[in-house]
Amino acid sequence: MDTMEAIKSRHSVRRFADRPVEEEKLLQVLDAARQAPSWANLQCVRFIVVKDSAAKRRISELSYVDSFFAARGYKTNPSQVALAEAPLVIVACALPNQSGDIRGQQYYMTDVGLAAENLLLAAHNLGLGSVFVSIFEEKPLAELLDVPAYISIVGLFPLGYPLHEVSGVTPRKPLKETVFYDKWQG
Ligand SMILES: Cc1cc2nc3c(=O)[nH]c(=O)nc-3n(C[C@H](O)[C@H](O)[C@H](O)COP(=O)(O)O)c2cc1C
Repeated sequence: MDTMEAIKSRHSVRRFADRPVEEEKLLQVLDAARQAPSWANLQCVRFIVVKDSAAKRRISELSYVDSFFAARGYKTNPSQVALAEAPLVIVACALPNQSGDIRGQQYYMTDVGLAAENLLLAAHNLGLGSVFVSIFEEKPLAELLDVPAYISIVGLFPLGYPLHEVSGVTPRKPLKETVFYDKWQG
């Protein structure tokens, strides 16, 4: 698939078919994520691939954060089913002290974001689907996966074959609302 076509046709996938992901395709997705740019090329991002069904169910439970969702009237995280249903979940972690910390901005989040987009596009290119899940209870998740306290867990990516054909993509603001020339025009 052409790069622009992949960018324009990618969309979040939250329901998965009961079909495993071939190891070769998983490795291609992880390799694409690994190739992302990073602060000073320090490559602070790490991935944990979770295939165990009980662990995925627990991850799914941990993606419902009461203080976030109940306050907004949601009974589930929109991706809660996806985390249990997908044949695997990629857990994206980062070493915050191996990235930039400038003007109070922690660039390990950016590093993970760039890896995430590569991951999502590579998955889409291979006929797979995924979604960036950022809302979860980090402490119990870290305990479940033996992640030490100095590592930050930034995102969860259920990965699998989409259950449905999705027609159309999520709308975006038009370019004229998001791009200014020469000066800020707010
Ligand atoms: C940083 C980030 C965090 C996100 N967290 C969640 C999440 O916790 N749960 C969820 O269902 N979707 C989550 N999403 C997915 C967005 O809702 C989705 O990308 C957006 O609505 C645009 O839709 P699209 O990906 O289909 O283009 C997240 C996306 C990003 C970039």
